[in-house]
Amino acid sequence: MKVAYVQMEPTFLDPEKNYSKAERLVRKAREKGAQLVVLPELFDTGYNFESKNEVESVAGQIPDGPTTEFLVELAREEEVFIVGGTAEKDERGNLYNSAVIVGPLGWGYIGKYRKIHLFNREKLFFKPGNLGFHVFNIGIAKVGVMICFDWFFPESARTLALKGADIIAHPSNLVMPYAPKAMPIRALENRVYTITANRIGEERGLRFIGKSTIASPLAEVLAMGSEDSEEVAVVEVDLSLARDKRINERNDVFKDRRPQYYVL
Ligand code: ACM
Repeated sequence: MKVAYVQMEPTFLDPEKNYSKAERLVRKAREKGAQLVVLPELFDTGYNFESKNEVESVAGQIPDGPTTEFLVELAREEEVFIVGGTAEKDERGNLYNSAVIVGPLGWGYIGKYRKIHLFNREKLFFKPGNLGFHVFNIGIAKVGVMICFDWFFPESARTLALKGADIIAHPSNLVMPYAPKAMPIRALENRVYTITANRIGEERGLRFIGKSTIASPLAEVLAMGSEDSEEVAVVEVDLSLARDKRINERNDVFKDRRPQYYVL
């Protein structure tokens, strides 16, 4: 199957403008044959909030909010699966840094993930995710979702892999330089594909690093974005590679685990 990232620069606090941009870039990925497209974290709102009020002004419910509706419609029109990051406000007014997964006709809204490991000032606005790590079976693949800083905790990708993910969709707004180097290792140690869709640009002095990355279960970098351009990458993945956890005839990344020694 073919998978893609969309690397883009969201306009801060302007969801309508970001919907148009995301639509154009998802279409471009679709023209190149992508069946699963990953958008950045908070693709609809931008990232560097100053207050809870600011987040509330652009956050919506999932699935009964404008961003999920936009994504469902786009996935239906383009006949593609999409994972994208968005600011969520639940019915009680709690804010989450979330991601939505949607699919073509017959699928629509599939599910959501709420970021578990909040980064830096996100802790001032968002509640930590409370839905756990989840793998969504979309028929053509099993897709696990984590968001940006979750990568720093190897348990995130490991949990998704142990739950059966073939592919980890990783919407991001990276500001530290490490993830493009680290994600191929997350892919290797779990024998999964990873798709990190990062943003570019600068907001209130905070610069995002671009370098969106698709990595293979053998730690190959199948695609890497630039530091400063909006672009899409589409690559072919072989899921049989992600479903084979053997390293050699005597080692297997799952069967050789010794979890009794992993906790204090
Ligand atoms: C991040 O988690 N957005 C750095």
